[in-house]
Amino acid sequence: MKLSEKLAILEEEERRATDGMTAQTSPRRRTVNARPKRSGGSWDANKRKVLDLVREEIAPRMAGLSGPALGAEVKDALDRILQREDVQVSPMERRKFVRELIQDALGYGPLDPLLQDPTVTEIMCNSFDDIWVEREGRVHPTDGAFTDDVQYRQVIEKIVSAVGRRIDESSPMVDARLPDGSRVNAIMPPLAVHGSVLTIRKFAADPYEAKDLVNFGTWTMDLALMLEACVRGKLNVLVSGGTGTGKTTNLNVLSSFIPEGERVITIEDSAELQLQQSHVVNLEARPPNAEGQGEVRIRDLVKNSLRMRPDRIIVGEVRGPEALDMLQAMNTGHEGSMTTVHANSPRDALSRLETMVLMAGYELPVRAIREQIVSALHLIMQVDRMPDGRRVVTAVTEVQGLEGDVVLLQDIFHYRMLPSDGGKLAGELVATGLRPKLVDKLEALEIEVPAKVFRPPMATRPIHESRGRRVRVPSARELAEPERAR
Ligand SMILES: Nc1ncnc2c1ncn2[C@@H]1O[C@H](COP(=O)(O)OP(=O)(O)OP(=O)(O)O)[C@@H](O)[C@H]1O
Ligand SMILES: [Mg+2]
Repeated sequence: MKLSEKLAILEEEERRATDGMTAQTSPRRRTVNARPKRSGGSWDANKRKVLDLVREEIAPRMAGLSGPALGAEVKDALDRILQREDVQVSPMERRKFVRELIQDALGYGPLDPLLQDPTVTEIMCNSFDDIWVEREGRVHPTDGAFTDDVQYRQVIEKIVSAVGRRIDESSPMVDARLPDGSRVNAIMPPLAVHGSVLTIRKFAADPYEAKDLVNFGTWTMDLALMLEACVRGKLNVLVSGGTGTGKTTNLNVLSSFIPEGERVITIEDSAELQLQQSHVVNLEARPPNAEGQGEVRIRDLVKNSLRMRPDRIIVGEVRGPEALDMLQAMNTGHEGSMTTVHANSPRDALSRLETMVLMAGYELPVRAIREQIVSALHLIMQVDRMPDGRRVVTAVTEVQGLEGDVVLLQDIFHYRMLPSDGGKLAGELVATGLRPKLVDKLEALEIEVPAKVFRPPMATRPIHESRGRRVRVPSARELAEPERAR
């Protein structure tokens, strides 16, 4: 009997047994993902034994096999071994046992169901039996586990070697990618003090669009209208935010406003952007090999991209001296370029840029750097992650010019917190009411932004009732004041 037929029979048996159990014992339903109770270490020991036998059996035929052919070979071997060997697993557990074995032999073991689960956006393994996931912005532990540390290390090596890299004591931290495009980072001892750590940022099969960000409350319709006009009008935009706040996602959505037909070059450490236009070239930096040779930095790619006739250059994230090349590109005919930076506020983003420009090694006076920044950058968008997991845009700020040595920043949109009942966080992104100077640039290109976009909410709820107390909500203009005063 073929394995598939056997599985069907086992499934039927399991279903009947479960129905019987549910009827007799408790009205509560069994959770689909519940891990079967293991009889001591026998489950893992059995799995290890069968896996070793599978590997032994298919090893001579492994070379040259991949994909479905390898899958069929593993399933046949498993079929033969389960018939031949005395495996102590109850009939109810058998189906799960076979499924886990196939995952272990062909995929990434306990990571497979998490990779297939569309609600999981990030997977974090701190050790073989300590796996966490992020769902809807919140981090939760899971009950999944690798059989042991050996299997955990094997999976890490499988992921890393598939992209031609290696992880060992001489190269203990690696960036890699899964075949589906998910971004992977692995770090092992002695750098990771308590054992290897694997972090996977899942690749969105269906990337967010502007309408999704509006639905999530990250953007407002008014902001979307303004951003679309800015991108079409080739203004240079910087997305700023902390780790995992949504910088790349916002950059990707911004890039969706680039008109079809322009030649776009994307440059990243690990290719994550998913542009939908037809004329896109993706470049990816390369770390040095084991001998410390062959490194290609973001900076080299930015310089190279200038010789590739780009209309726009999109750099996934500026972290170092490439900031200078990026600013120069923005200033010299590659308007409409975009990038992201790791910073906590628009002003912090500027000082990070200054520091990064200095890393290029030219002893530029601070004023000269600021002049470059001011003439290159038009807009900074600050993104943040709220404690409840929501991603919000907290400020959209125009870079207006230099006054003395100080860069003038003006908030166009600002996130204001609202008093709320029941301890739930509430806030909204509102226009500050100030008409940005960039509107003149856009009008010169006959791109119109409706005036209503910049209108602050009509003194919305200036007095708010909270637990019987009347609280005054500061106006958007008042919130913008401190930044203007700097
Ligand atoms: N507006 C949003 N609403 C909900 N989830 C979001 C939003 N933006 C991003 N995310 C999710 O947050 C996670 C991090 O997003 P993203 O990769 O864009 O962040 P990042 O700031 O670029 O991170 P890193 O600093 O690691 O590069 C992803 O799983 C993504 O799906
Ligand atoms: Mg990113």
